[in-house]
Amino acid sequence: MTLWQHRMGAPPAEALLAFTESRSFDERLWREDLEGSRAHVEGLHHAGILTDHELEVLQRALAAVEDEFATATFVFAPADEDIHTAIERRVTEIAGDVGAKLHTGRSRNDQVATDLRLWTRRTLVELTEEVVRLGELVRELAEAAGTAIMPGYTHLQRAQPVPVAHWLLAHAWALERDCGRFLDALRRADVSPLGAGALAGSTLPLDPSWVAERLGFRAPFVNSIDAVSDRDFVVEAIFAMSLTGVHLSRLAEEIVLFTTEEFRFIRLDDAYATGSSMLPQKKNPDIAELARAKAGRYIGDLVTVLTVLKGLPLTYNRDLQEDKQPLFDAADELRRELVAMRGMLGTMTFDFDAMRQAAGSAYLQAIDLAEFLVRRGLPFRRAHAVAAGLVRDSLERHVPLGELVAAHPQLGEEARALIEADEAVQRRGDEGMASFASVRRQVELLGDRLASHREVLAHYRGRAHR
Ligand code: ARG
Repeated sequence: MTLWQHRMGAPPAEALLAFTESRSFDERLWREDLEGSRAHVEGLHHAGILTDHELEVLQRALAAVEDEFATATFVFAPADEDIHTAIERRVTEIAGDVGAKLHTGRSRNDQVATDLRLWTRRTLVELTEEVVRLGELVRELAEAAGTAIMPGYTHLQRAQPVPVAHWLLAHAWALERDCGRFLDALRRADVSPLGAGALAGSTLPLDPSWVAERLGFRAPFVNSIDAVSDRDFVVEAIFAMSLTGVHLSRLAEEIVLFTTEEFRFIRLDDAYATGSSMLPQKKNPDIAELARAKAGRYIGDLVTVLTVLKGLPLTYNRDLQEDKQPLFDAADELRRELVAMRGMLGTMTFDFDAMRQAAGSAYLQAIDLAEFLVRRGLPFRRAHAVAAGLVRDSLERHVPLGELVAAHPQLGEEARALIEADEAVQRRGDEGMASFASVRRQVELLGDRLASHREVLAHYRGRAHR
């Protein structure tokens, strides 16, 4: 029997139940649904709608249901179209007549929004913790890279030498911004819709602020229509996951490249690489490749939810049920990905010699030669032409660039020293640039930022994981 059967003259068609049910995927919200229901019955008692005895009966029934879920002994009925229906049905079976009071002043519209916000809040806290952890690991790798250098690339062509740490930190900063985005999404998800009812609230003296506080939400809704219609928190959560996934895919792509024989910059630990079923010599970077691909999946999840919301009239429409699978999917996948990436990054080793060798070409310092001339008063465009001419000359006539520089009237021996890669790196000492001094400052600053994200998370953990 469905919750709404009394309105209908005929039982629901098999096909209707099969197509409209969400129990198969919202079952995992049982914890949040019970949490919301506990707050709700306490709110009803607080409002004088439930007697002490009724409260106790309902609380006991809810505890019994919780126990059934915790021990995986809960039995669903065929007509349990979603987790909310299933729990209410079971509470009523256990509590008898009093069970019929559970849904007083509540709609599944505010209930499902509450459940999903509780789930999102908890999940975002956990995911952000994982991202912070990954950021901390990359920061450690940067510290351990010391004075190693590598080529920095544009157009995937060697462009300028950079500290390996500077490259690593570039990825870490992206992750640090992701943490900021997660925390930002978390703040807006942290609002209670409970008490909004179907869309307009209730004539009963419910106290939305009281139940919001009881659920550890930052605030109650300020508009009941918005409370049951708003799924921004789902979109924002998946967006933060998508962008994190995109960042990881860029790092992953570089790992794929850098572990090739052609680069030889990085070696993966055997435990974090895979072999080939046919080619005995192969060692493949499958984690990185899947990380590259999963970004597309998160983006698909994001587009799904945005498309569901686009043009959707207020307030609740069954369309909104389609918000859950994309959210769950992105969160589940990203969680596994973050753990796998951390394992892979934490065990891989760098071939600093190969990296230095790749950065060793004198041509990478052509810009330093041009800027040497700029310091002597030459307009940059002219200086650029001189340096470019020398590179072309060197390549065409097979003469080392250093010799041409030494022999050049405007450059000479002093300028020849400029083509040494380690020196070139040291010359870019200003804030944020590609020098070791800059790397040291970044390591400090990144440490502070990640630590402050951790503090905010600890505060949320206190409220979201009770
Ligand atoms: N299973 C539904 C969902 O996930 C719950 C809300 C149903 N509300 C309703 N009025 N039909 O969105």
